[in-house]
Amino acid sequence: MSGVNEIRSTFLDFFARAGHAVVPSSGLVPKNDPTLMFTNAGMVQFKNVFTGVEKRPYDRATTAQKCVRAGGKHNDLDNVGYTARHHTFFEMLGNFSFGDYFKDRAIELAWTLITKEFGLKPDKLLVTVYADDDEAASLWKRIAGFSDERIIRIGTSDNFWQMGDTGPCGPCSEIFIDQGPALQGGPPGSPDEDGDRFLEFWNLVFMQYEQVEPGTRNPLPRPSIDTGMGLERMAAILQGVHSNYDTDLFRALIEAVAHAVSRAPEPDTLASYRVIADHLRASSFLVADGVLPGNEGRGYVLRRIMRRAMRHAEILGAREPTMYRLVPTLVREMGQAYPELMRAEGLISETLKLEETRFRRTLERGLSILDAESRDLSAGQNLSGETAFTLYDTYGFPLDLTQDALKARGIGVDTDAFQAAMQRQRQAAREAWKGSGEAATETVWYGIRERVGATEFLGYETETAEGVVTALLREGAEVSALEAGQSGLALLNQTPFYAESGGQVGDTGLILGAGFKARVTDTEKKLGDLFVHHVTVEEGTLRLEQPVELKVDHARRRAIRANHSATHLLHEALRQVLGDHVAQKGSLVSPERLRFDISHPKPIEAAEIARVEDIANAVLLQNAPVMTKLMAVDDAIASGARALFGEKYGDEVRVVSMGSGLDADPVAVSPRKFSVELCGGTHAARTGDIGAITIVSESAVGAGVRRIEALTADAARRHRGDEARTLAALAGILKAPASEAPDRLSALMEDRRRLERELAEARRKLAMGGGEGGSSRGSRETEVGGVTFRRSVIEGLDMKDLKPIIDEEKKRLGSGVVAIVGVSPDGKAGLVVGVTEDLTGRYDAVGLVRAGVGALGGKGGGGRRDMAQAGGPNGAGAQAALDAIEQALSEAA
Ligand code: ALA
Repeated sequence: MSGVNEIRSTFLDFFARAGHAVVPSSGLVPKNDPTLMFTNAGMVQFKNVFTGVEKRPYDRATTAQKCVRAGGKHNDLDNVGYTARHHTFFEMLGNFSFGDYFKDRAIELAWTLITKEFGLKPDKLLVTVYADDDEAASLWKRIAGFSDERIIRIGTSDNFWQMGDTGPCGPCSEIFIDQGPALQGGPPGSPDEDGDRFLEFWNLVFMQYEQVEPGTRNPLPRPSIDTGMGLERMAAILQGVHSNYDTDLFRALIEAVAHAVSRAPEPDTLASYRVIADHLRASSFLVADGVLPGNEGRGYVLRRIMRRAMRHAEILGAREPTMYRLVPTLVREMGQAYPELMRAEGLISETLKLEETRFRRTLERGLSILDAESRDLSAGQNLSGETAFTLYDTYGFPLDLTQDALKARGIGVDTDAFQAAMQRQRQAAREAWKGSGEAATETVWYGIRERVGATEFLGYETETAEGVVTALLREGAEVSALEAGQSGLALLNQTPFYAESGGQVGDTGLILGAGFKARVTDTEKKLGDLFVHHVTVEEGTLRLEQPVELKVDHARRRAIRANHSATHLLHEALRQVLGDHVAQKGSLVSPERLRFDISHPKPIEAAEIARVEDIANAVLLQNAPVMTKLMAVDDAIASGARALFGEKYGDEVRVVSMGSGLDADPVAVSPRKFSVELCGGTHAARTGDIGAITIVSESAVGAGVRRIEALTADAARRHRGDEARTLAALAGILKAPASEAPDRLSALMEDRRRLERELAEARRKLAMGGGEGGSSRGSRETEVGGVTFRRSVIEGLDMKDLKPIIDEEKKRLGSGVVAIVGVSPDGKAGLVVGVTEDLTGRYDAVGLVRAGVGALGGKGGGGRRDMAQAGGPNGAGAQAALDAIEQALSEAA
């Protein structure tokens, strides 16, 4: 029996011996494709190699690639748990030829590997080929000795492979194993092909085309090969089990689930265990590659995966967050092969726990909505599809769950309307999904890169240097010169200008030469190692091949360096204060300030901020040199350097370390470094150069992500100075020492609130004075046409204060009409009239208000029959307005 690790290495070794470069898996978030949600096949990282725009130092490669198929073109989410072979996360083993060998060698290699290395019995195997691919059919006949009935021709999209809506594609040939008549199912192409008996385990794609846009397919420069073998399926075959979930790896995960829910799997609950085991892998690997649950794009797909698993945990009886308790088992099973899991373990656990805590709250709300919406339904009726969709979409209830919950009462779900709602939402999601990753491939750079090679970066050591202009661009096209007044892009064979990356902004400065001067306004990187200078020529002409002098704006760079080093100190200080789950989620290092985003589930408290500042500044004061060295990436990570999750590093990485641990023994020979990070940025020479670090704000940028903004050096000092002066001014006004200002101000605010309450109360009393038996100036109650009419004028009350008084007056009168004019301090008047319910047949408050408003110099007025309002500029007409209303009342009587 072969374990998963052994199968993986047998595959890679076999192809390495056959002249293939063993290339590491790329991340789950594709870096070279703005159209793809997740890496869904081994070929994704080679997309541009197939189409010929990117060159690699090899023509043959082999990989074990992490893949997620959920969301996007290849989406297996809804099948997972209910079949023996579907996954959201899986590993794909593949071999690739970039215009080297084609069909015959690909089939030969595949056949040798599966029959000789893996020892599969040839008489159990069969293949499919694309309907008109006679060449592949005859190759299988010759190489495998297959008869015609074991070479099945399929004319549908099943045997034409596409990565996504665009990209390389071609006909394919799939290899199947017949697992024997004990299992249900027919051969591929037969009506019952979906059964488990015939299992597809390897897909050989004969890459021949590039889908440029729907309907347009161009031939590739050279025919190529892309293959994909599901590692989980191969493990099942070689371990003699019929389900991927019965392989060693999944058995361990399912056991962990059983332990966590204190319940062993039974036939009717097995699917839930499988869902949890599968989704645990997808969720954990996605978090390790930098995705966090959210409400759009990748984050939303991750959230749906997590919630689906959490709902199944609930079905198994879990009443507390469960998923995060499974992480140690996953790390034990897969952490060796994928060290990113070990590095991200804390973050994965925190993220799962937070999401499950949240989900448990919406779960209860969702169940009560389901309850309310189905209460009036009886057997034979359907729950509306919209409601089912809301439950699915907002509360994470899969459709089948809603159906299950209603089944016992004989109630169904309007699935057509559900599907229609789903369709609408998908459409909206597609429109909202504009892609991410690097900007769409700008092909011009590939040609330039080929011709001029990588730019050599000199900026770690120097801020001035000489270089030769190797390419100039204006409005996207190459030119041979840029004249005075023109702007464009310039490339040089070498440069001290730092190109924006890792959050650090690009350098600015000057390019000088005989008779010309150009200003560099920004520097960015293309294709990883081309440094592109945005320039405006101020004098003379900048020409190709010209030797030039390069000068980085020194003061600006010095500020950037201080801010970058401060970012590292804050990162470690935040981790020490808040915990190991703190991971960098983004940063911006500019000359003015620094911004740093971290994963942390709640606001960072003021006391925590103060501690972070204290720690960072204490290390700053050590004034130790900032050390950088180049190391092999594995050594760097093994030595404890902090790496970014989801970041792809080259073989060699730069490791930046600074300060010593505050708890370190000062006389130790080599005390532990305070901060050690993989980083390509530029840094202060010594921590003391940072001057000072001041955190100026803390805020939320998304679920579970907090943002810190900070200043250093002069900017920090000025900020502190400004704050001190503001405080001194405040203390002066309060006539108190600064240290007592906060208490004094709180007391004043409290006084003010009390006075406002008292004032409002006093005004109300004044207005209602007549009602209490006394009489207040301007208030009068009369009988008009057998109806009680109460009229008042009140100084200093707003319209909004009048309405509650009218209500109370109406209540007090029981039956009658109330009219109040409020006159504000600036002499304007507001008029409100109320009519008790029993009289609204006879009198209309709107009509009465309109009768009175003229005297206030106003017009119109609005409301309902029982309450209406109007206003005017002339408060002096208050009594006249009330007289007019009284007149109108007597006329109506
Ligand atoms: N790219 C092919 C697949 O994913 C091999 O099936």
